[in-house]
Amino acid sequence: MRDWLAGRTLRTRLIAGVFVLLAVSCTIIGFATSITLQGFLFGRLDEQLVQAGSRLDVSRERPDRPGDSDRPSAPGRDPDVQGQTVGTLAVRVSDRSIEQAVVVRDTAGQISLSKVALTPADRSTLLNLTPGQPTTVRLSSLGEYRLRATGGPGGDTQVTGLSLQEIESTVHRLEVTELIVFAVALLLTGLAGAGWVTLSLRPLRRVTMTAKQVTSLPLGSGEVDLRHRVPETDPRTEVGQLGVAFNQMLGHVETALEERETSEVRLRRFVADASHELRTPLAGIRSYAELARRSTEDVPDEVSHALGRVESEAVRMGRLVDDLLLLARLDTGRPLEQEEVDLSRLVIEVTSDARVAGPDHRWSLDLPDEPLVVRGDEHRLHQVVANLLSNARIHTPAGTSVVVRLSADPAGQTGRQAGRRVILSVRDDGPGIPAELQAHVFERFVRADDSRSRVKGSTGLGLAIAQAVVKAHGGSLTLISRGAGTEFRISLPAGNGV
Ligand SMILES: Nc1ncnc2c1ncn2[C@@H]1O[C@H](COP(=O)(O)OP(=O)(O)OP(=O)(O)O)[C@@H](O)[C@H]1O
Ligand SMILES: [Mg+2]
Repeated sequence: MRDWLAGRTLRTRLIAGVFVLLAVSCTIIGFATSITLQGFLFGRLDEQLVQAGSRLDVSRERPDRPGDSDRPSAPGRDPDVQGQTVGTLAVRVSDRSIEQAVVVRDTAGQISLSKVALTPADRSTLLNLTPGQPTTVRLSSLGEYRLRATGGPGGDTQVTGLSLQEIESTVHRLEVTELIVFAVALLLTGLAGAGWVTLSLRPLRRVTMTAKQVTSLPLGSGEVDLRHRVPETDPRTEVGQLGVAFNQMLGHVETALEERETSEVRLRRFVADASHELRTPLAGIRSYAELARRSTEDVPDEVSHALGRVESEAVRMGRLVDDLLLLARLDTGRPLEQEEVDLSRLVIEVTSDARVAGPDHRWSLDLPDEPLVVRGDEHRLHQVVANLLSNARIHTPAGTSVVVRLSADPAGQTGRQAGRRVILSVRDDGPGIPAELQAHVFERFVRADDSRSRVKGSTGLGLAIAQAVVKAHGGSLTLISRGAGTEFRISLPAGNGV
């Protein structure tokens, strides 16, 4: 039962519950009515038995008639038999032996008495009847009979019997009728119950629909339009109260999301403003450091070295500030340039730059015959590819092979994204990204805590920017980590040229 209930909807449970309850009620009613009817009919039969006994008594006392079964009795000649119910059995027992056993028959409208053939078992049953107490027995030639024995004159015993056939057929007919009526009632109740339950649960479905609509909303970030509410909630009903509570919760969540969005916007503006404001003094520091370094003939070497460091750190900081500004701008959803970008040419350029920067690595390029074109911001896309290649160079030891592959992906192969796509993958056979870092590698300021990264002065913003730029182009950047090595894959919507 518990197994069956598990996973069933409320609707199914309610309908099944009503159905089972009704079936049990029908069974009880069926039993009760047939037992009551049977009791009533038996009572009446017992009364008839007493009357039939006294009437047959009279008939039997006429010596010429009982047992004269072969002679049809004519109406008027046999008044006692005429008054008897067809099937009435009369037996006379004298000295513990059966003297006579006759039954009233109706042969073609003629009522007559005919002899009854009794088996030894029937005789023993008839002889052992308790006087005055009606008993149900089965006689071999007559079937089920209700018998009553009474003491007759001279120590004789008279047994009168009436057939149970009529009672049986009446009860049987009642049972068949009840069965049909109950089956129809169950069917109708099942159908009407299903409709009724469905109707009653409709408000609950509205709550579910609203919850589903809210679930499909991207609540993670950005401005969220959470106007969905459960319609037609009636606080007088339980489901209505659920709807009201749900609506209140949605209102609460909406307010919280608006507050979050406001504070996020404020933070983004602050980062953008701060980065922007930092650029000017940084440019000043860099210029002055450069100026001072150039005129350092009389300055000791340490000072010259320190000025060099100031300049290079100012350059690094400038880059960092530029990155932060770019991220802040991408966060605000500022539109990018929309121009035709020849990705094949771009990849060739960036790879040849990487070859120069990392001569100790083995670079290889796999391009399709036809140039692949996407729509977007060439400068930003260049930055993305350059970052992936510089990662493959900086975060892997010398001698690592790096394969840059560009290909057109026919619609459907990338699954979720519709339309034709261009796939750019950068794969190296280096040490790979540590497993614990893989889930967070696209987050800001996340980098492996190894000496190599520290020495190269990496900031951990490169992949965050790459992902934000690719997203702004309607594409996706994913890390594919299988076995040794690292593969980053960019999927972009193809431009008109593909
Ligand atoms: N090809 C790679 N092989 C091994 N580790 C990598 C690879 N690419 C990225 N990583 C790891 O992912 C981290 C994050 O990379 P990301 O480009 O975001 O930052 P970064 O390269 O450290 O700094 P930045 O790019 O801002 O100068 C890196 O610090 C490095 O640990
Ligand atoms: Mg990087």
